[in-house]
Amino acid sequence: MPVLVPGPASPSLTQRMAMLSNFAMVKVSYKVFPDGESYIRLEEPIKDDVAIIVQSCPPPQDKRIIELLQLIDASLRAGASKVVVIVPYLAYSRQDKVFLNYEALSSKIVARVIESVGAHAFITVNAHSEMVLSYFKIKALSADAFPEIAAYLSSLNLKSPLILSPDKKRYPEAQRVAKLLNAEATFFEKKRDLVTGGITTEERPLNVEDRDVIIIDDIISSGGTVANAARIVSRGNPKRIVAACIHGLYAAGAVDKLVAAGVQEIISTDTIETKTSRISVARPLLESLRQVVED
Ligand code: R5P
Repeated sequence: MPVLVPGPASPSLTQRMAMLSNFAMVKVSYKVFPDGESYIRLEEPIKDDVAIIVQSCPPPQDKRIIELLQLIDASLRAGASKVVVIVPYLAYSRQDKVFLNYEALSSKIVARVIESVGAHAFITVNAHSEMVLSYFKIKALSADAFPEIAAYLSSLNLKSPLILSPDKKRYPEAQRVAKLLNAEATFFEKKRDLVTGGITTEERPLNVEDRDVIIIDDIISSGGTVANAARIVSRGNPKRIVAACIHGLYAAGAVDKLVAAGVQEIISTDTIETKTSRISVARPLLESLRQVVED
């Protein structure tokens, strides 16, 4: 029987996965040395079972990645027959290709390192792109949590909802959520300056008067993308603006930026465990896990 190995960044999610499955959870002790280095030890052997490590990698990303690698190594030393690595939020995914000459291809480095330490399979949630998964030579899957977001939204008693993607690239996800809610979907076009990181969003009037507008993205990081969309939408007198995302990173004062732009409610999943994590990805992760463990 597989066992769950909880990483320090994903305690609640691992607990939920244990509750929804009949997998036991291994006890793990963590500490940080005075100089900042991480130490990880499994407190019991795994005895030839499959270890399922659950460790997200939000900030401080580099530390979270080292802890993940330590968990893989410790699980193998504890006797795991196979290690399945679940990284609900995979850091560096947005550097999934070379945008400017001579940049590091960070996403590929992360995949290579996870594999080289001994992972046998990899699962994330809503990978930023297919490219990210293609860098793994081991089996790599992406669980889909947008239906969970749709299910949560359907409990909010929304008034003629408009599902808005703040970036045309993400419109297919917005369309999928809208379909599940039987609602309308649309998008804005956004451009990011590759050097300054500054975001510009097209100004396009939408019919939002007295409607609930749900701005949906995969990641909220600085909040600039969603804030731009919210500012444009708020001019049309909507009833409420809700921001929903899979991965709520909230860097650089993002929450204040979103509120100042007119967002009344922010919701995210527990790929990154924060105060806005109203939706759990435990169920879609267990579904993806079945494909890997049964192989
Ligand atoms: C971009 O490709 C992503 O889908 C998000 O739109 C982006 O990462 C959000 O970043 P920020 O919150 O910094 O605008």
